[in-house]
Amino acid sequence: MTNKILTLKEYFQKYDESVNDPKKFWGSIAESHLWHKKWDSVVDWYFGGKDAPNVKWFVNAKLNITENIFERNLPQRENQIAIIWEPNDPKQKEIKITYGELFQKVKQFANALKKIGAKKGDRIAIYLPMVIELPIAVLACARIGAIHSVVFAGFSANSLSDRINDAQSNIVITSDGVNRGAKRICLKSIVDDALKTCPTIKNSIVLKHTEEKINFESPRDIWWHDLIKDVSLENKAEVMDSEDTLFILYTSGSTGKPKGVLHTVAGYMVYAEYTFKNVFQYNEGDIFWCTADIGWVTGHTYIVYGPLLTGATSVMYEGIPTFPDAGRFWETIDKYKVTQFYTAPTAIRALIAQGSEWVTKHKLDSLKVLGTVGEPINEEAWKWYHDLVGKGNCPIVDTWWQTETGGILISPLAGITPTKPSFATLPLPGIQPVIVDPDGKILEGNNVKGNLCIKYPWPGILRTTYGDHQRCFNTYFATYKGLYFTGDGAKRDEEGYYRILGRVDDVINVSGHRIGTAEVEDAINQHPKVHESAVVGYPHEIKGQGIYAFVTCEKLTDEEKKNIENEIKNTILKEIGAFAKPDLIQLVSGLPKTRSGKIMRRILRKIGEGDATNLGDISTLLDPNVVEEIINGAKVQIKK
Ligand code: PRX
Repeated sequence: MTNKILTLKEYFQKYDESVNDPKKFWGSIAESHLWHKKWDSVVDWYFGGKDAPNVKWFVNAKLNITENIFERNLPQRENQIAIIWEPNDPKQKEIKITYGELFQKVKQFANALKKIGAKKGDRIAIYLPMVIELPIAVLACARIGAIHSVVFAGFSANSLSDRINDAQSNIVITSDGVNRGAKRICLKSIVDDALKTCPTIKNSIVLKHTEEKINFESPRDIWWHDLIKDVSLENKAEVMDSEDTLFILYTSGSTGKPKGVLHTVAGYMVYAEYTFKNVFQYNEGDIFWCTADIGWVTGHTYIVYGPLLTGATSVMYEGIPTFPDAGRFWETIDKYKVTQFYTAPTAIRALIAQGSEWVTKHKLDSLKVLGTVGEPINEEAWKWYHDLVGKGNCPIVDTWWQTETGGILISPLAGITPTKPSFATLPLPGIQPVIVDPDGKILEGNNVKGNLCIKYPWPGILRTTYGDHQRCFNTYFATYKGLYFTGDGAKRDEEGYYRILGRVDDVINVSGHRIGTAEVEDAINQHPKVHESAVVGYPHEIKGQGIYAFVTCEKLTDEEKKNIENEIKNTILKEIGAFAKPDLIQLVSGLPKTRSGKIMRRILRKIGEGDATNLGDISTLLDPNVVEEIINGAKVQIKK
């Protein structure tokens, strides 16, 4: 396989080349892709100017990413399985779709989209469960040059409408319902709710999946199966500029509503494929399985684009890790002889809690590589994964990256980079991380700890936040001049290995889901009886971080007090989605605020950690007594 690093020595060589001459390095990797026209220069960029970031990769080149998946990989992969779809219900039959078949379906749906007027540059919202039509819809958008904006099907109607309105989408693609374990959720009714406030939507395309009875509003709503009837299977891909937008994906930050992280065609393509091959060391004949949802960036890059560009065979799973029981992952690995398995630490911790026998009764002898993503993995979970699931034979790739980075930035190369529990280890070729102190001074050498930044662009870096470039600058490039600031803390140990310490801003990571505390507060404050709230993350055995909400309310009767917690949770359900419901809610008479009215979240974070011994100076608080009250009523055990 081209562009694959095979030894540690080669990794160090490539790394040096990539830093000494990034243009030559990435230019030579991009040679293996299919272009209508090659680039005039490999990269033009600056991080430092007022309108930063300004980043262009493979400048003026022309291509279509789906031609790199299909035309480039066919005809030799015509009959090779591209995706094995494993249904939620194990009694239902799986679907195996070849590259040849997938290509037909993508072209057909691309033509169907065109039939209702979709065209290059349109923003198409996709709100689907993990069904095979989800990657088909994504790739059909890319085929015609429309920008896909996938919204995770666990988001509420309000979150969906916010995303549709921000992107001014004209089409939404959805299904009648979703199967999630034993539950069935009517997705279409959520879309109906959302569309009440989405004036730009002209059509919603509805896939029949769960056979739910739904409300159908013609001519706005169109069945997927009706739309593709009598549609040609011939489709010429739209020729795109390298820097045309491929997709927008909304993600949470420390302030305001989620922002639309924007990725462009060529750079993202080159980076997705390169990182997939190298991190997972994918070989011909391997079966790769990433358990993420395509609604998050991990699914975009390592279910859809990375594997399909590479010509890999991968598994896509509709359901949840514990349905019908805690053996589902391991049973599925044996069923398809999965070689590379990529999941989140949360899932691992949840399965540890179910007991080892779920794992040990399965063979798991096909496994070669194990991966983790989305949050720091604690040593205990790492060891369990390594010893019990991998039987001590499979390297673990702890992959650190973000929605904004498009692909993995810091990670071992499987079987090549020596690993260490809880360390993401070394940067991939082309990635130049730096650790800075609070003043932005770059800390040279090893054994340092601070904020993680990147000083040189890589092809997969975000180009902007949709419709608001200033926000992109403020969020990522204003903190440290000339550097991309990740929002994460990190340390570099004596060997130069990176350990990610977690977010240093008001973003929390709950079961691998990225949530802004401000977003949760805004949602809680929608409840008519709530005055104010402050939300922090606290250590949670399974979720990594749980959500702890401190809430002040108007005077409540005893009856109201009994109900308020549930009501607040329902408000979150309506405003964001079930995954953002607080684990702990504490009603308080006041929040710890400075005299200027700023909530001291630092104090609440400490309390959430169960540590009241070292709260720092609280004398500047408007009312220091509230701290004592909060400690006494705390929902976690407090060490005083
Ligand atoms: O805090 C880091 C954490 O997840 C954040 C990015 O979240 P999101 O954009 O949703 O993308 C998640 C999937 C790529 C990061 O800022 N994170 C991600 N991977 C790791 C991690 N923290 C520690 N170790 C990781 N391997």
